[in-house]
Amino acid sequence: MPLERLDKILSGQNIASRKETKELVRRGLVSADGRTVQRADEKFDPEKTIITVEGKTVAYKKYLYIMLNKPRGILSASRDRHTPTVVDLLPQELKREGLFPAGRLDKDTEGFILITDDGELAHRMLAPKSHVFKLYEAVCDRPLTQTDVTLFAQGIVCGDEKYLPAKMKITGEKTALVEICEGKFHQVRKMFHAVGTEVLRLKRLRIGEVYLDPTLGSGKCRELNSDEIIKIISQKNEL
Ligand code: URA
Repeated sequence: MPLERLDKILSGQNIASRKETKELVRRGLVSADGRTVQRADEKFDPEKTIITVEGKTVAYKKYLYIMLNKPRGILSASRDRHTPTVVDLLPQELKREGLFPAGRLDKDTEGFILITDDGELAHRMLAPKSHVFKLYEAVCDRPLTQTDVTLFAQGIVCGDEKYLPAKMKITGEKTALVEICEGKFHQVRKMFHAVGTEVLRLKRLRIGEVYLDPTLGSGKCRELNSDEIIKIISQKNEL
């Protein structure tokens, strides 16, 4: 890892602004590998150096991976002038520069959205050829039938759009679980529309092999644990 300035490391980790770092250093409150740091622009390898601030070790994280249970009405974007975004919902301790949603859910769709600053992972997940499986729970406006299941399994064609075969499992009169491996615009809603039903509620429950934590209330988030990070990073994108 290239060397980085101390003030950049601490501001990037949301520990202290550049100005605050200068002040902490001036007061002798920052150490690197046991030695008091003299200058805020001194450079270190953040992955190898044990940095402490006011006696507390900095748990350096190159990237953040955050699971958010997105509520309805929130935009899958980093910033918007008019509408609250998924990044706006993050608590202060998880906010840092460069975070964005890896993938999108419609404004009215709820559930699992991954927020990260790992651009390479997002690029891999979102590439058109990437086929990360995603599981949704849909509530529809008419009773669902085995014919719907068969049509989904055959691959829905809707106007010019052709969707790959999708698994549907009916879980209630008007509810179903649907697994798709593409991320086309309004895909699940359009697939249901093509078989003659409208989706009243849609929630994403899983990305790849990682499930939305059922203890996360609407609008709440947490960092992925190490198992989940490994699953997300190493997920196979081929069909
Ligand atoms: N399919 C949809 O229709 N909407 C989403 O947000 C995700 C998948």
